[in-house]
Amino acid sequence: MDLQTAERRVKDLQNLLNQYNYEYHFLDKPSVPDSEYDQMLRELIELEAEFPELKFEDSPTQRVGGDILEMFTKVEHRSPMLSLGNAFGEKDLRDFDRRIRQAVGDDFSYVCELKIDGLAVSLKYTDGLFVQGATRGDGTIGEDITSNLKTIRSLPLRLKDPVTIEVRGEAFMPKRSFEKLNEGRLKKDEEPFANPRNAAAGSLRQLDPKIAASRNLDVFLYGIADVGETGVQSHSDGLDLLEQLGFRTNKERRKTSDIEGVIEYVNGWVEKRANLPYDIDGIVIKVDSLEQQKSLGTTAKSPRWAVAYKFPAEEVVTTLKTIELSVGRTGVITPTAILEPVRVAGTTVQRASLHNEDLIREKDIKLGDQVVVKKAGDIIPEVVNVLTERRTGEEIEFKMPTHCPACESDLVRLEGEVALRCINPKCPAQIQEGLIHFVSRTAMNIDGLGERVVSQLFAEKLIKDVADLYKLTKEQLLGLERMGEKSVTNLLKAIENSKVNSLEKLVFGLGIRHVGAKAAKTLAQEFETMDRLMEADQEQLTAVNEIGEKMAEAVSTYFSNEEVRSLINELKTAGVNMEYKGPKPINAAQSDSVFAGKTIVLTGKLEQLTRGEAQEQIEALGGKVSGSVSKKTDLVIAGEEAGSKLAKAETLGIEVWNEARMLEELNQ
Ligand code: IVH
Repeated sequence: MDLQTAERRVKDLQNLLNQYNYEYHFLDKPSVPDSEYDQMLRELIELEAEFPELKFEDSPTQRVGGDILEMFTKVEHRSPMLSLGNAFGEKDLRDFDRRIRQAVGDDFSYVCELKIDGLAVSLKYTDGLFVQGATRGDGTIGEDITSNLKTIRSLPLRLKDPVTIEVRGEAFMPKRSFEKLNEGRLKKDEEPFANPRNAAAGSLRQLDPKIAASRNLDVFLYGIADVGETGVQSHSDGLDLLEQLGFRTNKERRKTSDIEGVIEYVNGWVEKRANLPYDIDGIVIKVDSLEQQKSLGTTAKSPRWAVAYKFPAEEVVTTLKTIELSVGRTGVITPTAILEPVRVAGTTVQRASLHNEDLIREKDIKLGDQVVVKKAGDIIPEVVNVLTERRTGEEIEFKMPTHCPACESDLVRLEGEVALRCINPKCPAQIQEGLIHFVSRTAMNIDGLGERVVSQLFAEKLIKDVADLYKLTKEQLLGLERMGEKSVTNLLKAIENSKVNSLEKLVFGLGIRHVGAKAAKTLAQEFETMDRLMEADQEQLTAVNEIGEKMAEAVSTYFSNEEVRSLINELKTAGVNMEYKGPKPINAAQSDSVFAGKTIVLTGKLEQLTRGEAQEQIEALGGKVSGSVSKKTDLVIAGEEAGSKLAKAETLGIEVWNEARMLEELNQ
């Protein structure tokens, strides 16, 4: 084919593909089947490969996903991407309205919009061409996800006018695409996404744009970052302009002059939202006039002229089939309701923790009951109550066991606790949970060692304690089900990498009773090495800020156990780091002191204090005492008969104090 013929065909194909895109995404009326679209797209890709001079940045072929990135680069937003304050009921909405009226009077309008449950994005266009798209990030700096955003077919690569503009919106995954994606993942034995929002975020944060291209994402634009010269006077004008430029906006918006209209709109969507082809997690209410928005202003985090109404948690009815018991890391027996699978707030729920026996009694839960289920905070499934009026008489009373479901030991109820516990330290379920905890993200963070692999390793008797993890061999791992060469190499690398973790990760990972991630960090910061922590007695432990009696006792009891000591030794021999690597904390008393953060050298003979005493007091105030003078020294304290160190300090121009000056500051 010659260049001229190719050029004509490329133009035709581009026009047709753009038109099909428009019909599909904006009119919801595709005129050709997907296969035909794909066929034409392939033809265009081939032509562009043969005639690179015909390839342009706004070609529909840009949507198939380009090269794999090494990492996402950072993008500074032209104006910050704020979040929204929440309203949880009619009262909150009326309070919001009162605040607005107090500030701007009665003459204004609201625009109500659906709050799309996806991922906030910011898109930059230069002379009409899409040049950069970013995530929200921390609101000021986000990540450049341009290549992934280009794969969204409803996102215009070139605007209808050659304007330079930055616009904001929400990228999301329609419910239908989400269901298809998860079906496919389940078939391939891959973990399904929990909800469309996670799936959308996961797709846009992939370095390989081909993945995003295969995920059928969509985007609604809801704002202009900086209206500048556009002539736009109100939010609704802005939305009209976005539409004229070729952006997809959400059509369900409504302008209303008072809060009654807002409440009516909000209530209307409580039921209707289930029928939308995408998830929404609320309604956004905005003051329409930009001038009034400006006079209302923003707080550090969110605008005063808008609010997000959050729907009450969705409640559904399902059957409680049975109650399963699990043994946790600390031996606590937790009952879990196994439910007839049911869709709640965007995901399928089939389990809900019942926490303990008391809760089962309080709620009068029986096997076979019809129960109301919701997701607390829209995340954690919970049994709200039983529909006792629907009982048939076939329901069965639930009895907590008297013996551990894993090791058969007698269960006990410790004083003051509601939970039943298995107190057998050799209980396999507890050991396995302890291993899962050790490798988890907040602990040793060993990627590739999820619950499934740990259970397999444990069942095959390849690991019985955490030290065994560091003895695993390639051959042993290759012998496991569903473990290929590549995953084994990655896993061994992750295990190796975990050896350099700072001490607090190990302390947390050991799973000492009462020691959470925060306490582990405090202990690591304070004692700096595992040896010092292991030797610390209860008095030294309680002397640490935030470490109470109960925790101190648990820590010293733990480390006094011979088996624990030999386990630590094994870890040491395996090369696991036993030192704290982060910054030393400075507490409030210290940070006020003149010694805080300074490197200080003591020299000569002191009269009032011994060297040791002076050092202790300086360190207590956040200073670091060093033995030799160098450029890094901040201060030298010179007593009588100070010699070469004083001389060196003078040549280096370092500040020198006498003992009296030091005492004055120490006594402050
Ligand atoms: S307006 C200055 N309108 O909700 C605030 N946000 O906390 C600008 N969202 O992740 C936001 N639909 O991306 C606005 N119609 C809508 C929205 C919407 C979804 C998201 C937004 C952000 C969060 C705000």
